Amino acid sequence: MKLVKFNNDTEIPIVGLGTWKSSDEEAYNAVKYALDAGYRHIDTAAAYGNEEAVGRAIKESSIDRDEIFITTKLWNTDQGYDSTLKACQKSLDKLGVEYVDLYLIHWFKGYEQNLDTYKALEKLYKDGKIKAIGVSNHNVHHIQHLLDNVEIKPVINQVETHIQLQNHFLQDYCEKNDIRLEAYAPLMSWKIKEMLENETLQEIAEKYNKTVPQIAIRWFIERGIVVIPKSVHKNRIEENFDVFDFELTTKDMKAIRELNKGNKLFPEFDNVDY
Ligand SMILES: NC(=O)c1ccc[n+]([C@@H]2O[C@H](COP(=O)([O-])OP(=O)(O)OC[C@H]3O[C@@H](n4cnc5c(N)ncnc54)[C@H](OP(=O)(O)O)[C@@H]3O)[C@@H](O)[C@H]2O)c1
Repeated sequence: MKLVKFNNDTEIPIVGLGTWKSSDEEAYNAVKYALDAGYRHIDTAAAYGNEEAVGRAIKESSIDRDEIFITTKLWNTDQGYDSTLKACQKSLDKLGVEYVDLYLIHWFKGYEQNLDTYKALEKLYKDGKIKAIGVSNHNVHHIQHLLDNVEIKPVINQVETHIQLQNHFLQDYCEKNDIRLEAYAPLMSWKIKEMLENETLQEIAEKYNKTVPQIAIRWFIERGIVVIPKSVHKNRIEENFDVFDFELTTKDMKAIRELNKGNKLFPEFDNVDY
């Protein structure tokens, strides 16, 4: 498993399991399948309502806690200094862990509120409750505001990224600031059909004797982007992790780059009404 190093010297496995929209039962089973398949990185969030099930599946596995990378996220209504501290403890209790490896501000909700919230994350970090601080759904101007005002840099920015929304500019900006990019909705989420039917990806997949999702996931690995495909099916969870035995050529990477359309499925970060 390839690891990506953060600016605080902790490391994250480059492929993890997403759990958005997975019910308790689905998340519990999916985490078990994933750990059996070799995943050591699980992405959840307070808002997904499945932290308890995720934590239970992790606890019941025979794998040591410190070998599994757990990300969870602070929901929007819990932003603010005191409420963030409380919400994080609630997530830790639900997950049944002493710390999470990465805690993300789920969405940007205004500059002042972001700073108050971020300062609580710095305290949680110093107290050892979170091993790395990150953000999600942040654009260049949101991150720059943090960099100008906070003590501890975020390690990662988790944003919608897929073949139709490639985020090259945002990746460059983040990496210049020693912040990694993480792709959510890497398989185009509820629009996965569009990706599966893409002829360029189908041709490339055939050449490597791989599937279209495997080509998409490998494309993130070649770009050094952390990627968290979600599935609740054992065969797909295994398929999405079977991506470490081949490399895409420069020509194939170029062909996939041509598929960029700037097509965003989720709301713009400055216009979120939840
Ligand atoms: N920070 C944020 O605001 C944010 C927002 C969205 C998502 N996320 C995170 O990112 C993760 C991934 O994003 P996502 O769940 O939106 O979408 P995604 O991973 O791009 O796509 C998930 C969809 O693809 C299907 N699928 C997965 N592997 C497949 C395969 N090999 N073949 C065919 N179909 C396959 C899944 O169906 P089945 O489950 O039925 O297999 C599901 O319908 C989330 O689960 C969550 O952890 C974060």
